[in-house]
Amino acid sequence: MVSSLKWVKQDSAKVVGNYAVNLIKACIEKKPDAVIAFPTGKTPLPMYEALRACTNIPWEETHLFQLDEYCLPSSGEMAFESFHAYLQRELLPVANGQFYPLSSYIQNPQQYDAELKRLGGLDMVILGIGTNGHIAFNEPGTDVDSQTRCVSLSESTRLANFGDAPGANLPTHAVTMGMSTILSAKEILLLATGTSKKEITERCLRSTDSPSHQYPASWLKTHHHVTIITDF
Ligand code: PGA
Repeated sequence: MVSSLKWVKQDSAKVVGNYAVNLIKACIEKKPDAVIAFPTGKTPLPMYEALRACTNIPWEETHLFQLDEYCLPSSGEMAFESFHAYLQRELLPVANGQFYPLSSYIQNPQQYDAELKRLGGLDMVILGIGTNGHIAFNEPGTDVDSQTRCVSLSESTRLANFGDAPGANLPTHAVTMGMSTILSAKEILLLATGTSKKEITERCLRSTDSPSHQYPASWLKTHHHVTIITDF
């Protein structure tokens, strides 16, 4: 299979973040009402820091979506924050476009895809990658045709995200954009930094193997406009 992935190697996670910001800015300058899905996690933190420092992105008309969200009890003490809270802290102080919280669609996740369709589809998706090859909460075994839906979290993802946090009140389920939702985007950025992501990123995206359900990120090889930005 001939893949058209573009690999960009930078010197550090910080420069990976800066590079991603330039692509996001270019997307919005080209289309002021761009529809963009944003990730959470550790990897994109330098990107959000650089986004907040960038004062000349015209966010006003943009439509800002979430890649995924935990299914949380509506009340009770949490041992961690929702992804909405993360984006409120990292992205929304600077990005004053229209934000679509995924928590509002938990009872009806397919409506999130309907909303994207109504807006003309995703112009850009920004992704991290899990050490098991997941993207968003599309875990190994995910159907490539999957849409935005409720999923149960794998043990390895729970361990990576919650570590040794106290067990009570930890989410067991999440809502995630599906593989087909992600692959329908016009442009995809995948950020992968740190040695722990090197092997899985290369296995999913550098090998000549056909894409496989075992490694959801490997389906990105079938997309026509993916930029992989790494520090390795
Ligand atoms: P991380 O998560 O950026 O916190 O490593 C990425 C992911 O699991 O998708």
